[in-house]
Amino acid sequence: MHADDETRILPSQADDGVVRRLRAAGCVFAEDEARLLRAQADGDLLDALVTRRVAGEPLEHVLGWAELAGVRVVVAPGVFVPRRRTTLMVEEATRLARAATAPRPVVVDLCCGTGAVGLVVALRTGDVELHAVDVDPAAVRCAQDNLARVGGRARTGDLTAGLPHELRGRVDVVVANVPYVPTDEVRLLPPESRLHEPVTAVDGGPDGLGLVRRVLSEAASWLARPGHVLVEVAAHQVPDAEQAARAADLVPRTVRDDDLDAVVLVASAR
Ligand SMILES: C[S@@+](CC[C@H](N)C(=O)[O-])C[C@H]1O[C@@H](n2cnc3c(N)ncnc32)[C@H](O)[C@@H]1O
Repeated sequence: MHADDETRILPSQADDGVVRRLRAAGCVFAEDEARLLRAQADGDLLDALVTRRVAGEPLEHVLGWAELAGVRVVVAPGVFVPRRRTTLMVEEATRLARAATAPRPVVVDLCCGTGAVGLVVALRTGDVELHAVDVDPAAVRCAQDNLARVGGRARTGDLTAGLPHELRGRVDVVVANVPYVPTDEVRLLPPESRLHEPVTAVDGGPDGLGLVRRVLSEAASWLARPGHVLVEVAAHQVPDAEQAARAADLVPRTVRDDDLDAVVLVASAR
């Protein structure tokens, strides 16, 4: 056997115990997870990470990072983990930000969590002025870390109350992946979300659209002309979300991606 072959075999042998523990705990992608955990730590620290994962913590919380659209972001325990379906919002927001007439488009990420959505839009668009707001200080700390690379600012606040006044009427694109799960359905979420993400990150009120309505009505007066607000919703919520956009004097259209199981309402200023 060639020496290179030997070194190639060693990591998977060392992985075996980790893979076995992960598989026994029900991790479907045990090999992949083991590889990621081993890249993060070894020895006692690796053992501690595996123990947390086996106890049911989301992999991203254990690793301390998550990915959205290929971009890695810091995510602390207790902070919402960005979902793959939100790639649709990123793509649509990037198109709109690139089409903005301002030399340096203003992008606002409301309910920013880790700040992943605004960050990816900023990285893909180029030079943007990025502001992010979340009500949860732990999320804002992650967003501050994540947005530093694009010079973005993250603040603690309740939707637009967290924005600096001078942005009023100047915002080209608002991305707002707000909580939109109806209260009665929160108990049906997978345990990784129910037990490890705050209920304020997922519960959208009786019909799930409480925050969507607030974002649409509040954001309208912050928009430039043209200017757009993007919110993610479930397919069955589209008629009511569109109605909420019209009530805020915005013009709604809906973008869908069945592969991502994603629906985004784009509400544009007249
Ligand atoms: C579904 S998570 C989305 C996070 C992030 N936008 C993403 O896609 O990864 C919703 C976020 O909204 C925040 N949030 C809930 N109510 C809020 C409010 N009134 N004002 C600001 N943020 C709020 C939660 O703390 C949570 O981080």
